[in-house]
Amino acid sequence: GKRILLIIGGGVAAYKALDLSRRLMELGANVRGVLTAGGAEFITPLSVASLTGEECYTDLFSLKDEAEMGHIRLSREADLVLIAPATADLMAKMANGLAGDLASTVLLATDKPVMVAPAMNAEMWRHPATQRNIETLKGDGIHFVDPGEGMLACGEVGPGRLAEVMDIVGAVESFFDRNFNGGSPKPLSGKHVIVTAGPTHEPIDPVRYIANRSSGKQGFEIAGALASLGAKVDLVAGPCDQPTPMGVNRIDVESARDMHTAVNDALPADAAIFVAAVADWHVANAGDQKMKKTVSGVPDLNLRENPDILKSVAQMNGGRPGLVVGFAAETENIVEYAQAKRERKGCDWIVANDVSDTTGIMGGSENEVHFITGDGVEGWPRADKSEVAQMLAYRIADALNANK
Ligand code: CTP
Repeated sequence: GKRILLIIGGGVAAYKALDLSRRLMELGANVRGVLTAGGAEFITPLSVASLTGEECYTDLFSLKDEAEMGHIRLSREADLVLIAPATADLMAKMANGLAGDLASTVLLATDKPVMVAPAMNAEMWRHPATQRNIETLKGDGIHFVDPGEGMLACGEVGPGRLAEVMDIVGAVESFFDRNFNGGSPKPLSGKHVIVTAGPTHEPIDPVRYIANRSSGKQGFEIAGALASLGAKVDLVAGPCDQPTPMGVNRIDVESARDMHTAVNDALPADAAIFVAAVADWHVANAGDQKMKKTVSGVPDLNLRENPDILKSVAQMNGGRPGLVVGFAAETENIVEYAQAKRERKGCDWIVANDVSDTTGIMGGSENEVHFITGDGVEGWPRADKSEVAQMLAYRIADALNANK
């Protein structure tokens, strides 16, 4: 079975870690507990030990533990380090590399994947410091099982409730399914891939913008599929409310120009996949203040062309990613237009789809694409966007592994 090191932080939700450990064991996992000093205010090491059938570790400086089980070994003898509940304090320590107690030392010493299920008061959750730490941790590749909303133990209502035990179990299950591939190395391990997704918003003034109907779904699915094949994925996302796929580093941007900067900052990469529906124009005379109809009447928007991010990366002189993939949204002559687009932009592949109103593809959950390379055109069957993502991710893996 998989070995899970379960770090139990302080908080009223600590008792749920007992249930969690049993549920994980029912699935065949071996669970070993680490209790923080805060956690030990709510549950005892004895209850953790008796439920898991393993010693529960609490103290960094306990000679007995060091003799039998050093913290380094403790942190490495697991397939997954799971923190539930994770307090704001523990996440702040992790984000900053502090190692003053057993839990934080294990977290700094581990070379294993880490999954965090936070629980705290809603204001603590919303606090910019906590949100900053979460962003940092996501950037470090830490997986999150986000807290739910609802009535908190402190009486307030809001985000911060520990995710349901079965949701945490589900996240662990899908983590193992997706990442352990029967022990064989993942086809994209060690590869860095940049994905753009979603629409862009082009400001007209502080309250108005030009946008398009892209939901971001296809791009987010592709980012997730690449991550599950082991790639380090930077997802540069325009404004959309897709959940961040597990193991993906998400960089939120607004406009095409922001997206361009973020992509350049994320380079170099082994592959770059441009799924975003980037606005073609921005408003050159956007207002610094809200435009008042009583003052200026109907504004003349002065539209200027946006940078073509795909083209600029595909035609880079030095440091071009080995594989550059663009998307094409067409409503007629799909293959012909897309082939021309591939040549014009200088990218290796184009994934073309029909976005005419009747197809229900834009904003929908299915996609039907033509996959266009230098070797020819393949018509892929209509399928869920997640399946299209998976097929593309495998093709990307094949291409990157053939290069090397
Ligand atoms: N793209 C980009 N930056 C832009 C515009 C487009 O990176 N400023 C990328 C998109 O992410 C996509 C591809 O280029 O991969 C789409 O090319 P585009 O020229 O916008 O074509 P369509 O959207 O298909 O539309 P049209 O051919 O009508 O211009």
